[in-house]
Amino acid sequence: WEHVPEPYRAKVIESIRLPSKAEREARLREAGYNPFYLKSQDIYVDLLTDSGTGAMSDAQWAALMLGDETYAGSRSYDVFERTVRDITGYEHVVPVHQGRAGEHLVMESLVKPGDIVLSNTLFDTTRTHVEQRGGLPVDLLADIAWDYDHPHPFKGNFDLDKLRAALEHHRGRVAAVVATVVNNLAYASPVSLDNMRSVRELARRFGVPVYIDAARFAENAWLVTQRQDDQRGRPVADVAREFFSLADGCWMSAKKDGLVNIGGFVAVSDEHLADECRQRLVLYEGFPTYGGLAGRDLQALSVGLREGLESDYLRHRTAQVEYLHDGLRDAGVTVCTPPGGSGVYVDVAALYPHLSPEDNPGITVTADLYLQGGVRMSAGVFELTTVNPATGNLVKRDFSCARLALPRRVYGRAHLDHVIGTMRKVLDGAGGAPAYKRVSSPRVLAHFFARYEPV
Ligand code: F0G
Repeated sequence: WEHVPEPYRAKVIESIRLPSKAEREARLREAGYNPFYLKSQDIYVDLLTDSGTGAMSDAQWAALMLGDETYAGSRSYDVFERTVRDITGYEHVVPVHQGRAGEHLVMESLVKPGDIVLSNTLFDTTRTHVEQRGGLPVDLLADIAWDYDHPHPFKGNFDLDKLRAALEHHRGRVAAVVATVVNNLAYASPVSLDNMRSVRELARRFGVPVYIDAARFAENAWLVTQRQDDQRGRPVADVAREFFSLADGCWMSAKKDGLVNIGGFVAVSDEHLADECRQRLVLYEGFPTYGGLAGRDLQALSVGLREGLESDYLRHRTAQVEYLHDGLRDAGVTVCTPPGGSGVYVDVAALYPHLSPEDNPGITVTADLYLQGGVRMSAGVFELTTVNPATGNLVKRDFSCARLALPRRVYGRAHLDHVIGTMRKVLDGAGGAPAYKRVSSPRVLAHFFARYEPV
């Protein structure tokens, strides 16, 4: 790990405090042991998500004042359109209020009942949008992605044998191939440029369009320049642009690498698809020149998209992730190696060998981390559908994921040391940690709304 000092300094601060142990116990009980019910003022270091939780720069705050709040034909849209075209190379730019709104527009346009959508791994809202259309999301990550210790530098890659088998076996049913960069569920691991080129090549052979879920495209491009020998020293924006050139379009939750608290877009080269999206946009989000955002949001995002590609920022950001990764590993926690883009992923089964998946060990770790140090993280289990590369048959496989996600430009090294120290205490007490049972179980999105009790 290389010490990379912050390439920024604080101009505004937000107070945080560590509640007492007794308070933490009470707050967690009231929250039904579900971290999504905890309140911000009761959390010391919040690593629930890196989405919309970053700090904007002075340049972004200044840009807010330039917002043109005209309903139709806003100047702010022109600035935004130019920026997105420049970064992605796609002609048609449709603003949306956040990533899942973009998924909604695209999946409604692309997916028919019975279709399948192939990806390295789809984020949970994306997969649900495919399912809502009567389609089936199929995740083609490689088997090594289940191995926390495997040193592969690009665990986010598509397994190309699985992709080929899926395209052959399910010919005529594949609506799209989607590359999620970085691969959020698969430990925020990057996708290599070589892998993306092969994906493009295979999909083209079968006449299937390729899209990029670009939420963390800049982190992915940066990690490519660090891990792929032939890409070292190349400007990050060039690498990103090449990724986009290998797809037909993208959507982005700009709450991540766009360095804003709200925002997103769809950008595509196909005019017909853009028109389909725009027509739905008017219904669900707003007029095509603001798409559910204020003009000022578009201005801040136009600045944020460029700042998110600066190498000083990306070097520091990924060094923070690596620092947390190394600290936890040295403390004896099994974390996914090598570290990825947006956070650190913990092997919960290894932490609590006495608990089975039915004991909800993901709740145990989030509860323990909060109780020991007021730190919030998230954990979930996903049932993925993948492909047997030999037969092309669809097979189910669970994938669990417990994540400490780092907000952008928010926390310093002392906060990370606090997290590492807290995790040490969690590890020390892990042998006696309780199982949790679900006491209220909503029909949808249980992961956000369920309540638990220790047993
Ligand atoms: N795609 C990816 C890869 C994501 O990680 C997310 C959100 C979305 C799409 C949806 O975007 O939230 O703006 O509607 N991920 C957040 C997370 C919530 O915590 O990882 P959104």
